[in-house]
Amino acid sequence: MRILSGIQPTGSIHIGAYIGAISQWRELQKAGECIFFIADLHALTIPQEAKDFPKQTLDTAIELLAAGLDPEKCVIFIQSQIKEHAELCWLLNTITPIAELERMTQYKDKSKQFRKNINAGLLNYPVLQAADILLYQTESVPVGKDQQQHLELTKTIARKFNQRYGETFKVPEALILQEGAKIMALSNPKKKMSKSDPQSCLYIFDEPDAIKKKIMSAVTDTGKTVKYDPVKKPGIANLLVIYSSFSGRPIKEIEKQFGGKGYADLKKQLAELLVIQLEPFRRKKKELLAREIYVKEILERGRKRAETIAQTTMEEVRKKMGLF
Ligand code: TYM
Repeated sequence: MRILSGIQPTGSIHIGAYIGAISQWRELQKAGECIFFIADLHALTIPQEAKDFPKQTLDTAIELLAAGLDPEKCVIFIQSQIKEHAELCWLLNTITPIAELERMTQYKDKSKQFRKNINAGLLNYPVLQAADILLYQTESVPVGKDQQQHLELTKTIARKFNQRYGETFKVPEALILQEGAKIMALSNPKKKMSKSDPQSCLYIFDEPDAIKKKIMSAVTDTGKTVKYDPVKKPGIANLLVIYSSFSGRPIKEIEKQFGGKGYADLKKQLAELLVIQLEPFRRKKKELLAREIYVKEILERGRKRAETIAQTTMEEVRKKMGLF
């Protein structure tokens, strides 16, 4: 089974992305052929500082390794180093209706958020994502819930291409967790935890003091009972999901543990759990920050492997589309 997923180099990894996506990547490394990449081309749809961008990209690679990606078990590379992503994106653009792109939730949200920079890249973002996935004949794409719509579009594009030009692409499936696919902001449990709002994030490399402060001040409600109820108690439900995923214990069991106790107890214990569970990430990141050459070697190995697969697919695509 071939598995692929990506992350934008737009800031440190928070527990939302970790639980929703990266914790799945870690597990899947044992199960199949895994390809993970840093989506730097996607990140350019929002202005980036050119002088800082290479470091941001390298930092994301370091963070992925620190978060548990094993370079012996998976391919890790930088999207822009494989020219075929942009090439296939262009070709797929020619079979993608603009109306489909205009109804994407992320496009609508981002064009509201960045009113002065509604560039064509923002609209075509999901087409590049489809190219990322189809280029590698991917079967499974482990992502958070916010990527589900993009994955549906990828499937539509793959089927359309196959119909028009003959069987070429595997039609991929999204892998989305039952629990933890959408971790909410600690400061506002009705909003997704998101890199574009640093206030909302608990980073997996946060120091113990910051972890405690963020968890203890997480917004909850005026009730007292620790119960999983995402509609009436979204803050508590979010904390329970985080607790469950970092302890590996079912939510029901955690609810029972805190029966008769208050929210402060839940927060205190969750903070302690996170301080312990996130310690290896902090340690590994510090270690890797001092081993830049090693990380660059991993990315170079990843580039070579990715390129071989990407070129093979593109040869077929060019032939099928009748390019000279
Ligand atoms: P990005 O960089 O926004 O996020 C990386 C992954 O983390 C997941 N995620 C979350 N999951 C649960 N709760 C949250 N609060 C949360 N925040 C983020 C995301 O769903 C994602 O899986 N477009 C993608 C990158 C990409 C990609 C691809 C992914 C580019 N090409 C091809 C898969 C396949 C993105 O912006 O992810």
